[in-house]
Amino acid sequence: MFQHIEPYAGDPILSLNEAFQKDPRADKVNLSIGIYFDDQGRIPVLGSVRQAEAQMLAEGGTKSYLPIEGAAAMRSAVQSLLFGPEHEALASGRVATLQTVGSSGGLKVGADFLKRWLPGSAVWVSDPTWDNHRAMFEGAGLPVHTYPYYDAGDAASGRPAGGLRFDAMLETLRSLPARNVVLLHACCHNPTGVDLTPAQWQALVPVLRERELLPYLDLAYQGYGDGIDADAHAVRLLAASGLVFFVANSFSKSMSVYGERAGALSVVCGDAAEAERVLGQMKATVRRNYSSPGLHAAGIVSRVLDDTHLRPQWEAEVTAMRERIAGMRRSLHSVLSAKRPGHDFSYFLQQRGMFSYTGLSPAQVDRLREEFGVYLVRSGRMCVAGLNSGNVERTASAMAAVIG
Ligand SMILES: Cc1ncc(COP(=O)(O)O)c(C=O)c1O
Repeated sequence: MFQHIEPYAGDPILSLNEAFQKDPRADKVNLSIGIYFDDQGRIPVLGSVRQAEAQMLAEGGTKSYLPIEGAAAMRSAVQSLLFGPEHEALASGRVATLQTVGSSGGLKVGADFLKRWLPGSAVWVSDPTWDNHRAMFEGAGLPVHTYPYYDAGDAASGRPAGGLRFDAMLETLRSLPARNVVLLHACCHNPTGVDLTPAQWQALVPVLRERELLPYLDLAYQGYGDGIDADAHAVRLLAASGLVFFVANSFSKSMSVYGERAGALSVVCGDAAEAERVLGQMKATVRRNYSSPGLHAAGIVSRVLDDTHLRPQWEAEVTAMRERIAGMRRSLHSVLSAKRPGHDFSYFLQQRGMFSYTGLSPAQVDRLREEFGVYLVRSGRMCVAGLNSGNVERTASAMAAVIG
């Protein structure tokens, strides 16, 4: 029956993580997987999350199924977090929000919905993007193409690597047929760390509107860029511009609750009646997929966001995580600049969020792993959140050695 089945090649990032776990070297450094580690190299359980869980345990409650669309308290807390509590789009009821199984669940439910209701559309993702974007949308049966994004620099003209090809990106978007889907990282671009500035977001809006494109925002790192509200800038701008769009958001990183699978999908529609129909068809998509999302995830998220004590505590915890990463960026930059004075490492300071594109070649990445036990993705992506005061110097020295 199954003789013809091909072996699964594995997910490159998760496979690298497994290889790291098996590596016996005591001073190995894991900068591959997109997870926030604290200065002791542990994945923190936030105090605000622990307290929310303690409250839930003390209160008892049932273990019944949630509705298909998730818990009402979580869905409204997500809406206020994304759009701000007073937003016109919320007041007019034109946002359809579902709690989903992580934001991956949201992205996939949205992809299945698009395949069903906008079947002729193609999806455009940044070059490069998170590998799973392509896999998810192609898996849903939609064609996936790329638009220019990361600037790898140009040795001949002396243009440094590490920027955004914004003009080329706009030019491509201006050439797309109506109703094509444009996947955009709302902040902390994965894998490059290169984001649009507020002025560039502003310049993007008329192009999306004139070409009748459908933006699909992925907000997986809210709070890791400039702050919780600042990182929702793109969501609020698009909503204020009257565009119809999707946004999948995650709490995996912002609440450090990876395994709880806490996320949501929101669709900003033209009016409340459209939002109701969209929500209904999204529910149909979920029902024939995983049926309903998790109860525990909903309890954590709604309590942390709505409780007057837990909310400020969580915001302070997010600030501390963001600032620790920024400190690691500064340390890496200063050690590398001292060791390799001819090189420009300023991209470490400009790029935002958990990731930086280092520009290291696959051969240099292999050398880092084999000789020094420093694990990066072969594209040269580094998870800066894996650095700490105990490993940053050694990592910078190893990088300086392979840069040569
Ligand atoms: C860009 C991006 N989107 C979405 C996700 C999915 O996150 P989750 O399913 O844990 O919410 C990730 C996780 O690494 C990501 O990097």
